[in-house]
Amino acid sequence: MRYISEPIKEPAQALEAIKRRYRDYATRGYGRYAVVEKSSGKVIGLTGPRYDSDIDCVDVAIWLLPDYWGKGLGTEILKECLSFCFNRLALKRVVGIVDPLNGASKRILEKCGMTFEGIIDYHGEKCELYSKSQIT
Ligand SMILES: CC(C)(COP(=O)(O)OP(=O)(O)OC[C@H]1O[C@@H](n2cnc3c(N)ncnc32)[C@H](O)[C@@H]1OP(=O)(O)O)[C@@H](O)C(=O)NCCC(=O)NCCS
Repeated sequence: MRYISEPIKEPAQALEAIKRRYRDYATRGYGRYAVVEKSSGKVIGLTGPRYDSDIDCVDVAIWLLPDYWGKGLGTEILKECLSFCFNRLALKRVVGIVDPLNGASKRILEKCGMTFEGIIDYHGEKCELYSKSQIT
């Protein structure tokens, strides 16, 4: 949660986040999804596109449980997430919003071909904006 702009620390916040996901599915037809480890069936994180009305963009995110960091999963998941955005949802452009100190996150965005665009003010914090556009 260290680099997440609205960290979830209480069960009530988690419940509100879940409700928000359901609203996203209902209004946009997509949203954040669970990442499930196939071999165990365990939920190990989340990923997916989300329309962010604050910046009028679709942003992609990945959160994994710490036990699953550093194994290449973040990169693999982001690649699939981008493919889903462009090939299934036919989105033209997606963005990633990153805390400048979140080195692992910036690295996987770059490895998946996302380009640094600049610094934005996001919920009162300076964040780095990355983007990738559909190749037409
Ligand atoms: C960000 C996150 C998804 C990365 O997942 P992951 O499975 O560990 O990522 P990968 O193993 O595919 O790749 C990590 C890359 O970052 C690099 N890296 C790790 N820590 C780093 C750091 N502090 N600074 C720079 N690079 C770093 C790794 O060396 C690796 O690059 P490489 O393949 O060139 O060696 C994971 O750390 C996470 O869930 N963090 C908590 C939630 C979060 O911050 N999400 C992002 C914001 S939406």
